[in-house]
This record gives sequence, structure tokens and C-alpha cells, in this order.
Amino acid sequence: MKSSEIRRVFIEFFAERGHLQVPSSSLVPHNDPTVLLTTAGMQQMTPYFLGLERPPSPRLTSIQKCFRTVDIDEVGDEEHLTFFEMLGNFSVGDYFKAEAISWAWELLTERFGIPRERLRPSVHRDDDFAFAYWRDVIGIPAELIARLGDEHNWWGPVGETGPNGPDSEIFYDRGEALGCGRPDCGPGCDYCHRFLEIWNLVFMEFFKEADGTQRPLPRKNIDTGMGLERIAMVLQGVGSVFETDLYLPILECAADIAGVRYREDPRVDRSLRVIADHGRAVTFLIGDGVFPGNEGRSYVLRRVLRRAVRHGRLIGPVNRLTAASGMTSTT
Ligand code: ALA
Repeated sequence: MKSSEIRRVFIEFFAERGHLQVPSSSLVPHNDPTVLLTTAGMQQMTPYFLGLERPPSPRLTSIQKCFRTVDIDEVGDEEHLTFFEMLGNFSVGDYFKAEAISWAWELLTERFGIPRERLRPSVHRDDDFAFAYWRDVIGIPAELIARLGDEHNWWGPVGETGPNGPDSEIFYDRGEALGCGRPDCGPGCDYCHRFLEIWNLVFMEFFKEADGTQRPLPRKNIDTGMGLERIAMVLQGVGSVFETDLYLPILECAADIAGVRYREDPRVDRSLRVIADHGRAVTFLIGDGVFPGNEGRSYVLRRVLRRAVRHGRLIGPVNRLTAASGMTSTT
């Protein structure tokens, strides 16, 4: 399934269930001094979750441009990115855990056709409702539902303060061959990449105050996020996000310019992946009005741009020619 088709199927599925599609907001957050860049689809929903503004519909869906620097050092592996698109469905005081879980399951298994035995959920260890729902309604054997702590199954707030809550994540099992073989290997495993997180369902119930106290939100809300690049990787049956239709053309273009080939040398591949991710990221940042500079988001852009250039130099013709002649490149 092409990524354009995945976007369409996602939005149509939630539109059939009464969700209004809202456009992606800018990567530069509007009216939110607590964060530098848009990192999640829920950010534009915050005033609704807090009861400060009335949403255009209690059920919303979006494809949000996101930028995260937390995983920047891992970009170049199979699944980490700085810029990505987040497919999301949101409930503002309307449906809650049961519908969020059932619909996610239905979309993944029936519309996207992912075999159910490939999917593994995790829940917060104190969330008895979500655990029982996965077990009794969806029919996942109890021993295949991971019950994890705050570090895995609690999401938010985006900044110091804001909406947050326990979550339930859905992982795709990439197969035993990619596992670490430890007896406790499962969703959230720190030792291998066998389980790929594809969708996060957040049960937004709390507001974190500046002093750290959590107060209940006026109503219970749902905020979900599925990474388009990761679900494309699963549905296109490829080994990394970089081999999906979202990236391969960019990688091939960069490879042509550098005069190298993708999939011949792992070090070159890593640089091509970094260039593809960072190139896309800086394009969207600039498109949203950010320019290179020394502060804040301008500094982030400058760093990402420089990182891409550095990788370009590593694999580009100048470096290869000077390496071949025994000279050191000063560029
Ligand atoms: N807000 C949640 C996330 O970003 C869905 O993972």
C-alpha cells in the first residue's frame, strides 16, 4: 500500500466514525511558549482538552507534521526520524478507551490487513481496564499483553505542564530473527528492535501543573498517534522506513549526486539515510518559516542542516577522490 493510500484509508476510516479532519498545524507551535516545535498531533488539541475552547467537533482526525530531536542520534537505523507524519484520531470528552482500542484494532487488522498474531499491545501496569479490554474483548492472550511502567506507558505533557495520561501502545512483531532471544523480550524491549511501536493510544485524563501536581482534566479525552513512515514500512514489507516510498526516491537522488549506491556499504547507507531524513526535515522547517540562526528553533535547523552536510561530505565525490589520492579533505 502506497503511503498516499495509507493516509487516505486512515482519514476515511475515522471520517466514517464521525471524525472531522483538521489540517496539520505548522511545525512552529501557535500560541504555546512551552515548546519549541510541534512534536505531536495533540498540540493543536490542547485548548480543547483543557476546556478553554470549543472544538469544531468532539471527534477529530489529522495528519500532523512533527519534528523531534530526541532520537536524532539514532537516525540512520531502521526506524528513527526527526521529521515524520503522525496519523491521529482525537476525542474531546466523547469516546474513551474502549472505542479507541477497538477502532485501532479494526483499522490495523481489517483495513490494513495485518495478521493479528503480529500485533502486540502494551498497557500501563495500573490500567486494569485497558488490560482487560485487550484480553476479553479483543481476545489477546493475557501473557502477550505487556504491562509496563510510567517510562513506557505514560505520555506527556509535551512541555513542563499540560495534558497527559496513561497510554496503550501497539507494536508490530518483526519476527524472532530480529529478537534478542531473552526470555522477557517483548514490547518495549531495550535490547533489540524486534517489536516496532506503530501506534500510541493516549488516555488523556490529567493536567500536570508547574509544581508537578496532577489534576484531572474537565473531561476524559483520547489522543492517538501512528507514525506514517513506520506503518508504511510494515505495509510495504520493507526492512526500514528508508526503503518505503516516502524515502527511497530521496535516497536514490542523494546517492546519484554523491556517485554512490544505496545498499552496498553500511556506512554509506547510514549517511544517505541521515541526508534523506534531515533534508526532508529542514525543507519542512523552512517551509514553515524557520531560518538558520543561533537560537531556539533556528539553531535546531542550523544543527540539522550541518549534520546533513557533514554526512554529504563523508560520502560525496570530494571526499572519495581525496581519500583515493591519499590527501585529507579540508572541506
Ligand atoms: N501524543 C501521542 C504521541 O505523540 C499520541 O505518541
